[in-house]
Amino acid sequence: MSRIFGKPLISQQELNRRIKDLGRRISEDYQDRDVVMIGVLKGAFAFFADLVRAIHVPVELDFLVVSSYQSAKSTGRVKVISDLTVEIKGQDVIVVEDIVDSGLTLSFLKKKLLMRHPNSLRVCALLDKPARRTINVPIEYVGFTVPDKYVVGYGLDYQNRYRNLPYIAVLDKEGEQE
Ligand code: IMP
Ligand code: MG
Repeated sequence: MSRIFGKPLISQQELNRRIKDLGRRISEDYQDRDVVMIGVLKGAFAFFADLVRAIHVPVELDFLVVSSYQSAKSTGRVKVISDLTVEIKGQDVIVVEDIVDSGLTLSFLKKKLLMRHPNSLRVCALLDKPARRTINVPIEYVGFTVPDKYVVGYGLDYQNRYRNLPYIAVLDKEGEQE
Protein backbone atom coordinates (compact mmCIF):
# COMPACT_ATOMS: atom_id res chain seq x y z
CA MET A 1 0.00 0.00 0.00
CA SER A 2 1.36 3.39 -0.90
CA ARG A 3 1.47 5.51 2.23
CA ILE A 4 2.36 8.87 0.81
CA PHE A 5 0.09 10.88 -1.41
CA GLY A 6 1.28 13.56 -3.77
CA LYS A 7 -0.37 16.91 -4.05
CA PRO A 8 -3.76 17.06 -2.38
CA LEU A 9 -6.75 17.53 -4.66
CA ILE A 10 -8.24 19.73 -1.94
CA SER A 11 -5.87 21.08 0.71
CA GLN A 12 -6.57 21.58 4.40
CA GLN A 13 -6.59 25.31 3.84
CA GLU A 14 -9.17 25.05 1.06
CA LEU A 15 -11.30 22.73 3.19
CA ASN A 16 -11.18 25.12 6.15
CA ARG A 17 -12.10 28.12 4.07
CA ARG A 18 -14.97 26.45 2.27
CA ILE A 19 -16.40 24.90 5.43
CA LYS A 20 -16.41 28.33 7.13
CA ASP A 21 -18.43 29.61 4.13
CA LEU A 22 -20.89 26.73 4.36
CA GLY A 23 -21.26 27.32 8.11
CA ARG A 24 -21.94 30.98 7.52
CA ARG A 25 -24.55 30.24 4.84
CA ILE A 26 -26.32 27.66 6.97
CA SER A 27 -26.29 30.02 9.97
CA GLU A 28 -27.92 32.73 7.84
CA ASP A 29 -30.52 30.39 6.35
CA TYR A 30 -31.48 28.99 9.75
CA GLN A 31 -31.14 32.12 11.86
CA ASP A 32 -34.67 31.94 13.24
CA ARG A 33 -34.81 28.18 13.63
CA ASP A 34 -33.13 25.39 15.49
CA VAL A 35 -31.58 22.86 13.19
CA VAL A 36 -31.02 19.14 13.52
CA MET A 37 -27.79 18.15 11.78
CA ILE A 38 -27.49 14.47 10.89
CA GLY A 39 -24.02 13.16 10.11
CA VAL A 40 -23.86 10.09 7.88
CA LEU A 41 -21.11 7.86 9.22
CA LYS A 42 -18.46 6.93 8.79
CA GLY A 43 -17.55 9.08 5.81
CA ALA A 44 -18.88 12.40 7.08
CA PHE A 45 -17.25 12.34 10.51
CA ALA A 46 -14.45 14.84 9.85
CA PHE A 47 -16.53 17.20 7.74
CA PHE A 48 -19.40 17.05 10.23
CA ALA A 49 -17.18 17.92 13.18
CA ASP A 50 -15.74 20.95 11.41
CA LEU A 51 -19.03 22.05 9.86
CA VAL A 52 -21.07 22.10 13.08
CA ARG A 53 -18.37 24.20 14.72
CA ALA A 54 -18.71 26.74 11.90
CA ILE A 55 -22.47 27.12 12.52
CA HIS A 56 -23.67 29.81 14.88
CA VAL A 57 -27.29 28.87 15.46
CA PRO A 58 -28.55 26.29 17.96
CA VAL A 59 -27.84 22.84 16.57
CA GLU A 60 -28.95 19.43 17.69
CA LEU A 61 -26.69 16.65 16.44
CA ASP A 62 -27.30 13.08 15.57
CA PHE A 63 -25.77 10.35 13.45
CA LEU A 64 -26.79 7.58 11.13
CA VAL A 65 -24.47 4.73 10.27
CA VAL A 66 -25.05 3.33 6.81
CA SER A 67 -23.30 0.87 4.62
CA SER A 68 -23.84 0.98 0.91
CA TYR A 69 -23.17 -2.19 -0.97
CA GLN A 70 -20.84 -1.68 -3.91
CA SER A 71 -22.34 -4.68 -5.68
CA ALA A 72 -25.85 -3.40 -5.22
CA LYS A 73 -25.29 0.08 -6.60
CA SER A 74 -27.93 -0.34 -9.25
CA THR A 75 -30.63 -1.10 -6.72
CA GLY A 76 -29.46 1.54 -4.28
CA ARG A 77 -29.95 -0.73 -1.33
CA VAL A 78 -28.40 0.89 1.67
CA LYS A 79 -28.31 -0.74 5.04
CA VAL A 80 -28.88 1.42 8.09
CA ILE A 81 -26.59 -0.09 10.69
CA SER A 82 -27.41 2.43 13.38
CA ASP A 83 -30.44 4.70 13.30
CA LEU A 84 -31.12 8.17 14.72
CA THR A 85 -31.75 8.60 18.40
CA VAL A 86 -33.68 11.88 18.07
CA GLU A 87 -37.19 12.47 16.84
CA ILE A 88 -37.14 14.59 13.66
CA LYS A 89 -40.89 15.05 13.22
CA GLY A 90 -41.57 18.75 12.72
CA GLN A 91 -37.87 19.61 12.85
CA ASP A 92 -35.66 21.42 10.36
CA VAL A 93 -33.14 18.81 9.34
CA ILE A 94 -29.89 18.90 7.38
CA VAL A 95 -28.32 15.62 6.31
CA VAL A 96 -24.54 15.86 6.09
CA GLU A 97 -22.82 13.54 3.62
CA ASP A 98 -19.20 13.06 2.60
CA ILE A 99 -19.76 12.62 -1.13
CA VAL A 100 -22.64 12.18 -3.53
CA ASP A 101 -21.65 9.87 -6.33
CA SER A 102 -24.49 7.92 -8.00
CA GLY A 103 -26.92 9.62 -5.62
CA LEU A 104 -28.50 6.30 -4.62
CA THR A 105 -27.46 6.42 -0.97
CA LEU A 106 -28.73 9.93 -0.54
CA SER A 107 -32.04 9.37 -2.27
CA PHE A 108 -32.62 6.27 -0.14
CA LEU A 109 -31.82 8.21 3.03
CA LYS A 110 -33.98 11.16 2.05
CA LYS A 111 -36.95 8.90 1.42
CA LYS A 112 -36.43 7.20 4.75
CA LEU A 113 -36.16 10.48 6.66
CA LEU A 114 -39.11 12.12 4.89
CA MET A 115 -41.34 9.31 6.12
CA ARG A 116 -40.75 10.73 9.62
CA HIS A 117 -42.26 14.08 8.58
CA PRO A 118 -39.58 16.64 9.34
CA ASN A 119 -40.64 20.28 8.81
CA SER A 120 -37.87 20.59 6.23
CA LEU A 121 -35.04 18.43 4.95
CA ARG A 122 -31.94 19.71 3.19
CA VAL A 123 -28.67 18.11 2.20
CA CYS A 124 -25.14 19.31 2.74
CA ALA A 125 -22.42 17.33 0.97
CA LEU A 126 -18.73 18.05 1.17
CA LEU A 127 -18.13 16.64 -2.30
CA ASP A 128 -20.30 16.33 -5.37
CA LYS A 129 -19.21 13.98 -8.16
CA PRO A 130 -21.87 14.74 -10.78
CA ALA A 131 -20.28 12.69 -13.57
CA ARG A 132 -21.56 9.46 -12.03
CA ARG A 133 -25.02 10.54 -10.96
CA THR A 134 -27.72 8.01 -11.86
CA ILE A 135 -30.52 9.53 -9.82
CA ASN A 136 -31.32 13.19 -9.57
CA VAL A 137 -31.17 14.38 -5.98
CA PRO A 138 -30.94 18.06 -5.10
CA ILE A 139 -28.05 19.09 -2.85
CA GLU A 140 -28.67 22.45 -1.22
CA TYR A 141 -25.14 22.93 0.15
CA VAL A 142 -22.09 21.64 -1.74
CA GLY A 143 -18.50 22.04 -0.62
CA PHE A 144 -16.65 21.12 -3.80
CA THR A 145 -17.44 19.55 -7.13
CA VAL A 146 -14.90 16.83 -7.89
CA PRO A 147 -13.93 15.07 -11.12
CA ASP A 148 -14.72 11.40 -11.81
CA LYS A 149 -11.85 10.07 -9.72
CA TYR A 150 -11.84 7.98 -6.56
CA VAL A 151 -10.99 10.30 -3.70
CA VAL A 152 -9.90 9.57 -0.15
CA GLY A 153 -9.08 11.44 3.02
CA TYR A 154 -10.85 13.77 5.43
CA GLY A 155 -13.30 11.00 6.30
CA LEU A 156 -13.46 9.29 2.91
CA ASP A 157 -12.06 5.82 2.66
CA TYR A 158 -10.86 3.12 0.38
CA GLN A 159 -11.51 -0.21 2.10
CA ASN A 160 -11.75 1.66 5.39
CA ARG A 161 -8.34 3.26 5.11
CA TYR A 162 -7.20 6.85 4.58
CA ARG A 163 -10.07 8.40 6.54
CA ASN A 164 -7.51 10.14 8.73
CA LEU A 165 -5.72 11.99 5.93
CA PRO A 166 -6.23 15.67 6.77
CA TYR A 167 -6.93 16.60 3.13
CA ILE A 168 -8.62 15.11 0.06
CA ALA A 169 -6.43 13.17 -2.35
CA VAL A 170 -7.02 11.12 -5.46
CA LEU A 171 -6.41 7.44 -4.80
CA ASP A 172 -4.00 5.80 -7.17
CA LYS A 173 -5.53 2.34 -7.12
CA GLU A 174 -2.61 0.83 -8.99
CA GLY A 175 -0.21 2.19 -6.39
CA GLU A 176 -2.55 0.80 -3.76
CA GLN A 177 -2.19 -2.72 -5.06
CA GLU A 178 1.61 -2.77 -4.81
P1 IMP B 1 -23.58 6.97 -3.96
O1 IMP B 1 -24.69 6.18 -3.33
O2 IMP B 1 -23.11 6.33 -5.25
O3 IMP B 1 -23.91 8.44 -4.16
O4 IMP B 1 -22.32 6.89 -3.05
C1 IMP B 1 -22.43 6.96 -1.71
C2 IMP B 1 -21.23 6.56 -0.92
O5 IMP B 1 -20.19 5.90 -1.67
C3 IMP B 1 -20.59 7.80 -0.35
O6 IMP B 1 -21.26 8.25 0.81
C4 IMP B 1 -19.20 7.29 -0.07
O7 IMP B 1 -19.17 6.64 1.18
C5 IMP B 1 -18.93 6.29 -1.18
N1 IMP B 1 -18.13 6.92 -2.26
C6 IMP B 1 -18.52 7.29 -3.49
N2 IMP B 1 -17.52 7.83 -4.20
C7 IMP B 1 -16.44 7.81 -3.39
C8 IMP B 1 -15.06 8.24 -3.53
O8 IMP B 1 -14.60 8.79 -4.56
N3 IMP B 1 -14.27 8.04 -2.45
C9 IMP B 1 -14.70 7.46 -1.29
N4 IMP B 1 -15.97 7.06 -1.11
C10 IMP B 1 -16.83 7.22 -2.15
MG1 MG C 1 -17.69 5.12 2.28
